[in-house]
Amino acid sequence: MGDGTIKDYSPQNNVIVELERIKKAYDREILKIDKLELRKGQIYGIIGPSGAGKSTLLRIINLLTPPSTGNYYFHGETVAINNRDIISIQRKMGMVFQKTILFSDSVWNNIAYGLKARGYSRDETNGRVAKLIDWLGLRDLAKRRAETLSGGEAQRVAIARAVAFDPELLLLDEPTANLDPFNIELIENMIATLNREKSITVVIVTHNVFQARRIADQVIFIDQGAIVEMGSTEKIFSEPDHEKTRLYVEGKVIS
Ligand SMILES: Nc1ncnc2c1ncn2[C@@H]1O[C@H](COP(=O)(O)OP(=O)(O)OP(=O)(O)O)[C@@H](O)[C@H]1O
Ligand SMILES: [Mg+2]
Repeated sequence: MGDGTIKDYSPQNNVIVELERIKKAYDREILKIDKLELRKGQIYGIIGPSGAGKSTLLRIINLLTPPSTGNYYFHGETVAINNRDIISIQRKMGMVFQKTILFSDSVWNNIAYGLKARGYSRDETNGRVAKLIDWLGLRDLAKRRAETLSGGEAQRVAIARAVAFDPELLLLDEPTANLDPFNIELIENMIATLNREKSITVVIVTHNVFQARRIADQVIFIDQGAIVEMGSTEKIFSEPDHEKTRLYVEGKVIS
């Protein structure tokens, strides 16, 4: 990795992240992605059975998990995964984990954290946090400690923290698992608004194929560590190329 290759860097190309021949192995190979391009302004839904490799793929996109082999490009430039430079790229991405991780601190400070880490001034930080708190209906909770929040509240705070610095890429791992319909709708609306108004590219992992259908432009179906099929949401749900995709989106068990 990191051989200095420069890819098509033209603005019309619009590819933010490209993965090429990426493999990840622990005691066995768990992920093998020949090619994946994430383009500006899109919402990608990653679906697939438990253990398929969805979270691992998201962590590789976020440069948290180094792939065993393969190439990673950010805006067409090759990224040396084991290099300290990855921090500057990670700072352009917001991530919400499958298990919500908040700091043992106030809601306000949790949201402010990423802004402080990125060197925003105190005024700018306060302005942004206040705006997000209003938008997410968290005004009464600003001073509450994160550990006292309900699941839905905590997840809204986690998303606020991940988007406060206007990331280019927002990575969400099952952000609405275990939430009630009210919070699910609220979070789906947040994601759509962020995508529309700030052109934030979103990658959302979800078990819920209906959710993917509601909010994704492109759907990536993963099974046993490989992309079975990727395409427009309409195509994946109405005329997928693969029988396995059809069975999965119809809610049938695949083996
Ligand atoms: N650090 C690790 N060491 C060994 N195996 C791992 C590690 N992380 C993930 N795996 C394995 O890789 C496979 C894919 O895991 P991953 O968490 O990416 O799946 P997933 O699609 O997100 O599943 P779920 O829908 O249950 O969250 C699983 O078999 C898992 O046990
Ligand atoms: Mg997972």
